[in-house]
Amino acid sequence: MSEKKKNLRSQDWFGGMNKRGFIHRSWLRNQGYPTDLFQNRPVIGICNTWSELTPCNGHLREFAEIVKKGVLEAGGFPLEFPVTSLGETLMRPTAMLFRNLASMDVEESIRANPLDGVVLLTGCDKTTPSTVMGACSVDLPTIVVPGGPMLNGKFRGGEIGSGTFVWQIKEKVKNDDFQEEDLLEAEICAARSSGHCMTMGTASTMACMVETLGLTLPGAAAIPAVDARKKVLARMSGRRIVEMVREDIKLSDILTRQAFENAIITNAAVGGSTNFIIHLQAIAGRIGADLKLEDFDRLGSKIPLLVNLKPSGEYLMEDFFYAGGLPVVFKELEKHLHLDTITVNGKTLGENNRKAECYNRKVIASIDEPLLKEGGIAVLKGNLCENGAVIKPSAASPKLMQHEGRAVVFESIEDYHQRIDHPDLDIDENSIMVLKGVGPQGYPGMAEVGNMDLPEKLIKKGVKDMVRLSDGRMSGTAYGTVVLHISPESAAGGVLALVQNGDRIQLDVKNRRLQLLVDDDELARRKAAWVKPTPATERGYVNLYINHVQQADKGADLDFLVGNSGADVTRDAH
Ligand code: FES
Ligand code: MG
Repeated sequence: MSEKKKNLRSQDWFGGMNKRGFIHRSWLRNQGYPTDLFQNRPVIGICNTWSELTPCNGHLREFAEIVKKGVLEAGGFPLEFPVTSLGETLMRPTAMLFRNLASMDVEESIRANPLDGVVLLTGCDKTTPSTVMGACSVDLPTIVVPGGPMLNGKFRGGEIGSGTFVWQIKEKVKNDDFQEEDLLEAEICAARSSGHCMTMGTASTMACMVETLGLTLPGAAAIPAVDARKKVLARMSGRRIVEMVREDIKLSDILTRQAFENAIITNAAVGGSTNFIIHLQAIAGRIGADLKLEDFDRLGSKIPLLVNLKPSGEYLMEDFFYAGGLPVVFKELEKHLHLDTITVNGKTLGENNRKAECYNRKVIASIDEPLLKEGGIAVLKGNLCENGAVIKPSAASPKLMQHEGRAVVFESIEDYHQRIDHPDLDIDENSIMVLKGVGPQGYPGMAEVGNMDLPEKLIKKGVKDMVRLSDGRMSGTAYGTVVLHISPESAAGGVLALVQNGDRIQLDVKNRRLQLLVDDDELARRKAAWVKPTPATERGYVNLYINHVQQADKGADLDFLVGNSGADVTRDAH
């Protein structure tokens, strides 16, 4: 133990009885730290994504104080620091544009400072992958405390799920007796406590992902933000990270190829968001696990859907927690998962969840009687998506899974907004809506606009779903027969850029095909006439992003951020 203590990274800053040691300690002393905190205590950085502009993370300031108690109790020295926080609901053009930027902030903040271990406080969609990606590129002992979902939305005797309700508003305002005051009341009813979206949207998906990867204490993902058990979890995570430093359990010890496979399998069973693919790949890229888009289909698409949560199902995260949460899912998936993967508490996934019990089979189905035989994400190939595209069958309409139709093309999101509700738009329920220019380079930032609202005139006729294609993403709270992440994207000159109104398109999910039924000569002619769109801006981060972002099938990280640089910095400032 004393041998380990000598090697604490932070002692390189705090250990010297000389000019440098003085500088490193003295200024920190203005916050009232006694001498012994600098003497061989594991220094724990509490990486906080709190922000009033990220409402889903609004309670994380309080959580940081709870984590600090745990760190102190275990003999560590906690130091909280803020990082770029990404809020899904307010940021323009899309929070996704800044995920990689936030990850750089996290990475450099960790490496540059005298930290031995890190606690990541996360919540809203991008705050989990951005912090985990950044932390992976340094690879210190790290634990995640997911902020937790909001309590179930309650509205006039019924329940409303955050996000998923939003996708019904256009329909409601058109068809129902749903007035302004109804909308205003629904707003606060949908968000009645601290926490992130309480559907199985991207935030809940990310919480499940980090728990499955082994980066949280057991059972973390589903505990509501306001439940006392979440506070206990935060405190215990503070204690545990100190031990992790002493045991030297780093991210790379936990994030093995098997852990990533577990995440894919579990995501299928919980009906997680399609955004999962992009974030997991970006994380894998940082830690050096070789993950391919095809792995998501190969490992996940035959896994049964077990969790009955919106948007695919009926219930919400609070129900999932009371039913037993993710540990029950692990137990059901026993014969599919690698149970020997190590987690932050030093035990294996199997050991941690052996005693899990299901308290509500309506919310978490058993593996023998699943909600759907095949839950995961399907990866499509074809001339329209040479590097792949994805669809979430559990959120789609079975009757549209094999469909041929006539393309109705929107050249940009503005073009879509301008024309979609025009009474003369030549479109019917068998048409295939095609949206271009919403990929990583094109939007820029790959916005969640792939689940385009249907045309008003078809909604009025009672049409509920149509095939929609784009190079964008969709919110994890959304649903429909929506093909996403088409790669290469249109702005990069993918075949998607060449689709014209009236072209026939064939979607065949069973055979994993997406084909533009236009012959190669004609496509070559169109390609020759194609002009690359001018980038949205010539300066700043956004220009850097456009020039360096990888395509969706690789996780949309910046090319120069892939991999990691370790924790060593040999030069000092003084
Ligand atoms: Fe933050 Fe949904 S908007 S989690
Ligand atoms: Mg979202």
